[in-house]
Amino acid sequence: MSTTVPVNPPSRATTLPLPPGPRGYPLVGVLPYLRRDPLRLLTAVQRRYGDVVKLGDQRMFFVTRPEHIQNILHASERRYNKGPLLSKLRAGLGDGLLTSEGDHWRRQRRLMQPAFHRQRLAHFGAIMSGAAEELCADWQPRAAHGEPINVAAAMMGLTLTIVSRALFSHDTSNDAEIIRRSLNIALPITERRFWSFINMPERAPTPDNIRFRRAIAAIDDVVFRIIAARRRSDVDQGDLLAMLLQARDEETGAQMSDQQLRDEVITLLLAGHDTTANLLSWTFYLLSRHPSVESKVYAEVSAVLGGRTPAVADLASLPYTRMVIDEVLRLYPPAWIIGRSPIAEEQLGGYRIPANALVLISPYVTHRHPEFWPNPEGFDPERFSPEMQDARPRYAYFPFGGGPRICIGNNFALMEAHLILATVIQRYRLDLIPGYPAPPRPMVTLHAGNGVWMLLHPR
Ligand code: HEM
Repeated sequence: MSTTVPVNPPSRATTLPLPPGPRGYPLVGVLPYLRRDPLRLLTAVQRRYGDVVKLGDQRMFFVTRPEHIQNILHASERRYNKGPLLSKLRAGLGDGLLTSEGDHWRRQRRLMQPAFHRQRLAHFGAIMSGAAEELCADWQPRAAHGEPINVAAAMMGLTLTIVSRALFSHDTSNDAEIIRRSLNIALPITERRFWSFINMPERAPTPDNIRFRRAIAAIDDVVFRIIAARRRSDVDQGDLLAMLLQARDEETGAQMSDQQLRDEVITLLLAGHDTTANLLSWTFYLLSRHPSVESKVYAEVSAVLGGRTPAVADLASLPYTRMVIDEVLRLYPPAWIIGRSPIAEEQLGGYRIPANALVLISPYVTHRHPEFWPNPEGFDPERFSPEMQDARPRYAYFPFGGGPRICIGNNFALMEAHLILATVIQRYRLDLIPGYPAPPRPMVTLHAGNGVWMLLHPR
C-alpha cells in the first residue's frame, strides 16, 4: 500500500476571514492603480497589508510568502488552474504549452519535456554564441562611429534569431524575417490587450484586431509550410522542430497533429525570445551601473576564454558570470507576474480565498521581500553563492515559476544568457547613455520602458 502523503492537502475554510487589503474605487477597485503602476502598487500593498492581500472588491488576491507560493504552484490542477491572466495570449498561441490546461497540457508537456533536457540543449550552444558573435560583428561600424545602440531592441532580435534557428535550423532566412515582422506587430497588440479592462471581442473589426489576425495568419503560413515540408522529408535536422515531430506519447504512441505542432512552435517562438531578451537587456543595464561587477565578470570571462568564443563546456568555469545572471533575474524577473485560480475555496495564512478568484504571485515583489533579502534593492551577485542560496526558503526566488508548470525553457534560457554575456563582454564594454532612463515597464513581460540606449567601447 502506498504511504505517500499529499504535499499540499486541500483545505476548506469557509469560516476564516478574507485577507486585508486596499478597497480602491467603487466597481473598479484597484484596477486603475494596477494598470498605471502595478509594481509600485503590489510592492506597497505587501509592505502595508502583509503577505496575503485582497485587492479591491474584485475577486483578486496577492500572495507574497514563499511557503504560500510553493503551496499554490505545487498544487495539482484539481486545486488551482492558470486562471484568466494568460487567456489573452490564447488568440495567438492557441493551445500551446503556456496556455493549455488539463489532459491536453499534461500530454503535451510529456511529449515535449525530453527535447528540453539539458544534454539535448547543449547542441544549441554553438547557435547561441555564434549568433552573439554575429551581432558583435554587426555592431562594429556603429561602435566605431560612437553611435548609440538600443541594446533592448538588439537583444530582442538576437534571441528571436536564436530560438528560430533552434526550432528550424535549415529553413530560409526569408521565413525568419516574416516571423520577425509579424511578431513585431502581434506582440505590442497582445501587450495592450493584457492590461485592458474592456474585453473587446477579438472578432470585432478594430484596426488592432485586423492587424493582429493578419500577423498571426502570416506566421501560420510559414509554420504550416515548414511542418508540411518536414513531414515529406526523411532528413533529421536535429533541431527542436525535428524533436517535436518525432515525439511519441509513451503511453499511447500518438504523435502531434499539425495544429498542435503549430501551437507549440508559436508558443516557443514567443515564450522563448521575449523573456530572455529582457533578461539580457537588464543585465547590460545593471552591469553598466555597477562597473566593479562588470570588471569582475570581464576578468572571469577573459581568464577562462582568452578571447575565444564560449562553448557550453566552458560555462561551469564561469560561475560568477552565472551569479550575475541569477541576480539580474532577482531584480528584474522578466515573468514578473504569475496568475492562478483556485477551483474551490482555499485557505492561505489563516485567510479565506474564494473559489475562482484570481490569485496573483509576483517574482518581482517576493524577490524584494525584506524578510528574505537584506538590502533588497541592492545589486549583489554574491547573494547567489552556494552558501547564501542554501540559507533561503525555496520560493523566495522563482524567476521560472515552479511545480508542474515550471518554465520548460529554463535551462535553454540560462545557457543562452550565460553564453551571450560571455561572448559580448569579451568584445565590448557597454555604457548607458546618461539622460536615457530605463524605467521598468511591466507588460506581459518586464521591459525596459524606453529601451536601453548604450555606447559600445570595443575591447
Ligand atoms: C529568462 C527567460 C525566461 C523566463 C524568466 C521564463 C519564465 C517562465 C515562467 C515564470 C513560466 C511559468 C508561468 C506560470 O507558471 O504561469 C514559464 C513557462 C513557460 N516557458 Fe518560460 N521563461 C523564460 C524562457 C523561456 C524559453 C527560452 C522558453 C522556450 C524555448 C520558454 C518556454 C516556456 C513554456 C513553453 C512555458 C509553459 C510551460 C508549461 O506550462 O508547461 N521559456 N516561463
